[in-house]
Amino acid sequence: MKADVILGLQWGDEGKGKIVDLLAPSYDIIARFQGGPNAGHTIEIGGRKHILHLIPSGIFHPGIQNLIGNGVIIDPVIFRQETEGLKETGIHPAETLLISDRAHLILPTHRLLDACYEQSKAEKKIGSTLKGIGPAYTDKTARIGLRTGDLTDRDFRTRYELLKKHHLQLAAAAGISSNDILIDGLSLDAYEKAWFESLEVLLAFKMVDNALFLNRSLERGMKVLAEGAQGTLLDVDFGSYPYVTSSSTTAGGVSTGLGIPPSRIGEVYGVFKAYCTRVGNGPFPTELNDETGQLLRDLGHEYGSTTGRPRRCGWLDLPALRYAIMINGVSRLIMMKADVLNHLPEIGVCTQYRIDDRLSDFPEARESASVFEAACIALPGWQSEPDPALPFDSQPDAFKSYVSFIEKAVDRKISVLSLGAERNQTLMRDRE
Ligand code: IMP
Repeated sequence: MKADVILGLQWGDEGKGKIVDLLAPSYDIIARFQGGPNAGHTIEIGGRKHILHLIPSGIFHPGIQNLIGNGVIIDPVIFRQETEGLKETGIHPAETLLISDRAHLILPTHRLLDACYEQSKAEKKIGSTLKGIGPAYTDKTARIGLRTGDLTDRDFRTRYELLKKHHLQLAAAAGISSNDILIDGLSLDAYEKAWFESLEVLLAFKMVDNALFLNRSLERGMKVLAEGAQGTLLDVDFGSYPYVTSSSTTAGGVSTGLGIPPSRIGEVYGVFKAYCTRVGNGPFPTELNDETGQLLRDLGHEYGSTTGRPRRCGWLDLPALRYAIMINGVSRLIMMKADVLNHLPEIGVCTQYRIDDRLSDFPEARESASVFEAACIALPGWQSEPDPALPFDSQPDAFKSYVSFIEKAVDRKISVLSLGAERNQTLMRDRE
């Protein structure tokens, strides 16, 4: 058996949570492979909104095993808040959630350093979610991080104090004292107290060697879905560096973040929105800094689910989408939030980039270009409401043309069209 993958093709917030939730009943195991509490996967069930940061989106389905993989980094305080929130809705994650014994921990001082580094970047800020992501992954690659499996070691506290001391020295060198910065409104000491109290909750979960667990499960014929967070254009290697997150958000991250070999990867579901959004700073060629951008933000409720920040909005970027499909080897394309465009008379689409005096079909390094802009065309809007209960052929003509235009430009069929937040607002073309 091969593991399937679902991941984002833009700058995150594509709506992966809804699709994982829809696909979940066909799988035995849902496994998150990277990222941490910077993610916010929103799922609406029965009119109620749930936001998951660390826990895989399969948690709402009884009988499905969920796993937090070694590529994920965990803040115990946020993990505890999330499990408590789920319990209030009648879901008891301890029954179905496994945690890798190699997942790295986000320490309170990682969060302090994140804030420090952002402050020192002045106008070059990345716009981090300030969840400690960059500093925690830095310590992982520097080989000084602490992992979930270390929690039960006798010398854990000593190692924790050593790492904390190192972090405080780094902060001091940047001219920042721990008293200068609050973490989610708490002083470092108060957050640290909550952090240690939360370890008990984390330790109540079963920890596993996830590579062994997943490969054995696949050998036994179990179906595994690997769930990504953020999106391809935020990948530490292939995104718009340095305005990226610190993990591999692309299909390669499945192998390093779960221990599933490339030869065992099956379908790759690539999720994108019918337009583009980005939170935080960095290049955004199709950004609309006008009333149309604001309209997309309002109609699409484009405000960050982790930080509440307004998302930057713009037209669909086909060169970036082509690139993301190529990097991930996408086999199934899923388009989200087409309903947000329902009432627009015209819809812009970027078909190529103009770089100096030539046109390019793909993103490329362009530091030296004096002209870099999105070459956009306008397509007619459908100005009506496609009905997800009807087959694709019965949808409004302009809607079908918009979908076909994208399919032709990226040379892939769009298998699923999402037309609203609820499970039943989805047009599954594979079933036609
Ligand atoms: P960090 O991962 O919190 O350090 O943030 C780095 C960049 O990635 C910032 O621009 C964030 O806004 C962005 N980012 C991180 N996580 C997400 C996400 O889940 N959705 C969208 N953007 C994200």
